[in-house]
Amino acid sequence: MCGIIGYAGKKQAAPLLLDGLKMLEYRGYDSSGIAVFDGGEIKMSKAKGRLENLDVLTDGGKKLGGVIGIGHTRWATHGEPSDINSHPHVSETGRFAVVHNGIIENYLDIREFLTAKGFTFKSQTDTEVVVQLLEYYHKGDIFETIRKTLNKLKGSYALGILAVFEPNKFFAVRKDSPLVIGLGKRENFVASDIPAVLKHTRSFILPDDKDIAVVDGNGVLLYNSNHELVERKRFEVDWDVESAKKNGYPHFMLKEIHEQPKAVEQTIAACIKGGEIAFENVDYSEEYVKKLDKLYIVACGSSYHAGMIGKYFIERNCRIPAEIDLASEFRYRRPILDENTLTVVISQSGETADTIAAMREAKEHSSRVLAIVNVVGSTIAREADDVIITRAGPEMAVATTKGYTTQVLTLQLLGLYLAGKLGRTGGEYAKYLEEIKCLPSAMQEVIDGKEQLQILASKYFGNDKAFFIGRGNDYALALEGALKLKEISYIHAESYAAGELKHGTISLIEQGSLVIACLTGDELYDKTLSNAEEVKTRGALVIALVKRGHTAIEGQAKHVVELPALSDEIMPCVAAVSLQLLAYYIAAARGCDIDKPRNLAKSVTVE
Ligand code: M6R
Repeated sequence: MCGIIGYAGKKQAAPLLLDGLKMLEYRGYDSSGIAVFDGGEIKMSKAKGRLENLDVLTDGGKKLGGVIGIGHTRWATHGEPSDINSHPHVSETGRFAVVHNGIIENYLDIREFLTAKGFTFKSQTDTEVVVQLLEYYHKGDIFETIRKTLNKLKGSYALGILAVFEPNKFFAVRKDSPLVIGLGKRENFVASDIPAVLKHTRSFILPDDKDIAVVDGNGVLLYNSNHELVERKRFEVDWDVESAKKNGYPHFMLKEIHEQPKAVEQTIAACIKGGEIAFENVDYSEEYVKKLDKLYIVACGSSYHAGMIGKYFIERNCRIPAEIDLASEFRYRRPILDENTLTVVISQSGETADTIAAMREAKEHSSRVLAIVNVVGSTIAREADDVIITRAGPEMAVATTKGYTTQVLTLQLLGLYLAGKLGRTGGEYAKYLEEIKCLPSAMQEVIDGKEQLQILASKYFGNDKAFFIGRGNDYALALEGALKLKEISYIHAESYAAGELKHGTISLIEQGSLVIACLTGDELYDKTLSNAEEVKTRGALVIALVKRGHTAIEGQAKHVVELPALSDEIMPCVAAVSLQLLAYYIAAARGCDIDKPRNLAKSVTVE
């Protein structure tokens, strides 16, 4: 999951690389490093811990001269976080330096192979075999050297490479790991993600797997695996630099929570045209949709929770059976797939390893794959048959907020789109479409009422455990609320289908247990109300989330959070905002590092 960056131009490279790494820190933050060409030599600085350590060590990069360099921020997979294990790694003679994102699966075999040839290894990383292979294969031709090295590697990689005999350029290559090339004015970049270089350019190219990019200050040349010079499509991003900055908010997470009304509005504007649902890159015939006998919705983490809401919505409105699966389970459980199944994969980053594998599994078995993704040009966006881009804009905090709500909304729009193709536009169809348009203002209302959540957080931030309960959509919400709280505050938070409590979990409830009861739907309100009563009777303190005006809960709940009232089906995006704010304020009160929770990274590119 690490972040890599490369620069070639006229400016001093190191400060620029550090600056770019700051925007990639969400990808990993246990160590970092940079390498530059300085006076024809490779000079390097690395530091364990947060990027600020490297910043101090190099005096903001000033200590390293040179106008060409590569940088890295690490999320350890092979070998503990340490100076030695941090990237860049250099070859035995110091002629090559490499930064790497991804996993070299056969690194032990290569290590053995090279050790037998007399190579010694300093680190415990898989990456060091890459740089030593470059050294081993180098007989004069750099392309042949890189090609032979790539042919030996199994796994995924995005690599930035410096070679001492090519001091005016650097090389970059990717396979199954994200890498963009940024084209500036007399300066060019590579990076794991667009925001790292957005300050310098909005013009990008996505190299294909195994293209070798040769980057210098004047331009970028791309060679495919047959060593033919190739052109790849250039695209412009419409995000501005500000969207990837904190803009006065103490954390990206809080900023991104506040951006949700706009993100949802943008998603609606992109998908509803003239009162009709129309997706830019999806055009299914009625015949195709009518033949569908099953949908699989596949994702990880919060995207999986969004998928649950999608399942309920699609089944209710389309009457097509929809299964929801964790990508890590789906890929190994031999799902029954054919041309009449549509597999919907959901991923904010578009780079989650398990979701990519699940997508490939589905494609291999003739299922069409529709991806709901936030990052244009990501692996999933490129490989899926059809893609809907959520319009959340760059999401920097590890805990997803606007990424999640735009996924929920997109799944609801997909449900209505499929219902339209099936001629099922009666019933609630028109009402849902109208209410979806009210979402931005309803979500804004929750944000405006954040003080209540702040007060609740100040009362309960000291608790060491919390339970989230709900039924139907509210159960999916409970799952998301608990994940949000645990990942950023480290409070042990668990979620349960409210009806399941009495089958075991209720034994955990004792005097003072904190229970967050989600009762935002009318249909199952009374049922969950009884469950809230059951936990209250056993001493729990209940915080209840309800639609405005649902006062029956007052007898059971210590605190009631009232939300703008929309149809049950449209409530999840609104309710999610209050759970996000509650988790945020609790984590802030506990003094947690909210944007960079321990052990986590934004995109999970390992299995
Ligand atoms: O990028 P993806 O949507 O595929 O990521 C999936 C999960 O890793 C992600 O949703 C994770 O659970 C979030 N950090 C939760 O806030």
